[in-house]
Amino acid sequence: MFFLGSKNLLGFDIGASKIKLCVAQIKSNSIHVKKYFEIPMDKNPIHQGEIHPTDKLIQKCKVALSKLKIKSKKVCAGVAGSSVMVKRVTIPLMEDSLIHEQIRWEAEQYIPFDLGSVILEHKKLDLKLQPDSLEVLLVAAQDHFVMQVNQFIQNLGKTCACIDVSSFALSNALSRTYKGLPHKTVALFDIGAESTHFIVLHRDELIFSRDVPIGGKAHTQEIEKAMGLSFQEAEAFKKASVGEWPEQVHQAVLSGNKLVTDQLTGSIEFFLNTSSQFDLEKIYITGGGAFTPGLLEALKLSLQKEMEILNFSDRVKYSGDPSLKNSFFQSGAVSLGLALRKDK
Ligand SMILES: Nc1ncnc2c1ncn2[C@@H]1O[C@H](COP(=O)(O)OP(=O)(O)OP(=O)(O)O)[C@@H](O)[C@H]1O
Ligand SMILES: [Mg+2]
Repeated sequence: MFFLGSKNLLGFDIGASKIKLCVAQIKSNSIHVKKYFEIPMDKNPIHQGEIHPTDKLIQKCKVALSKLKIKSKKVCAGVAGSSVMVKRVTIPLMEDSLIHEQIRWEAEQYIPFDLGSVILEHKKLDLKLQPDSLEVLLVAAQDHFVMQVNQFIQNLGKTCACIDVSSFALSNALSRTYKGLPHKTVALFDIGAESTHFIVLHRDELIFSRDVPIGGKAHTQEIEKAMGLSFQEAEAFKKASVGEWPEQVHQAVLSGNKLVTDQLTGSIEFFLNTSSQFDLEKIYITGGGAFTPGLLEALKLSLQKEMEILNFSDRVKYSGDPSLKNSFFQSGAVSLGLALRKDK
């Protein structure tokens, strides 16, 4: 979004629980993931809209990059969270050259950041709701955050050729792997550890994006509280098979599911209330948190929509680290969208 695109990009998704690295190629309409790796982290390096990677994390990333033998120096990194904002605005019909000025004016009304310290971009949509107006996505990112991400990549000996908003990367991955989605309007929740990227695509085009501050950590914290365990112990319980769960874990996961479901239902209601022209036909879920037992069922019950786990395994050839294949298909969508950014 913010920098020039390039060839052979390394997708670099900085999640709250792990960094995902992906190198992929599109050949005769099929997607081939050539390399994929995850760098687990003890602590989210992003806090209150700032990223401060520790020396230990930089070292871990460098080791991973040399182990992966990634030759490309160019990286496409994702940005998300409270320093980034995406909003669809309706503006009067005008020449493309005039849109940028109009967008600055719109941004003054909608963007909660100081415009003097913001990188502002826009994307004109194909979506047409009224004959005499244009639909445009306004994208704003706080420039200090973008600089910090850029610096992080430089510290790894790489060049940040492109910085994309994670939700755009997600939409890129979804529309490429589900080419010509069978439904006109679909939503996707990428349920991570601390946040959920919520996007809506209409005819394969991103029309709505919001980061909801909740994810799989909510369940882990419920287990921690209920059983008096450490975070790591609670994570291990959560990922163990349901048959091994004591009753307190069942109850804790149920309350985690309720917390997540309430927030995501609120976000869907917000979308439907502010975009009544669209009928949400299908909702996909992905991200590590999507695999919490009972969560899909709880969401279906609350949202009363057709829902399923995003499955792009039959559309993507994977030859990354074999031990991470499942994890890639569970939570690698953003990194894939970033790696494929060059072809947009
Ligand atoms: N099998 C599983 N069952 C339940 N939860 C799981 C499972 N596997 C992973 N998770 C949870 O998924 C979350 C991590 O998912 P993911 O890798 O998508 O997040 P992230 O990208 O690091 O975080 P964020 O998107 O919030 O920045 C963690 O909360 C983890 O506990
Ligand atoms: Mg994530």
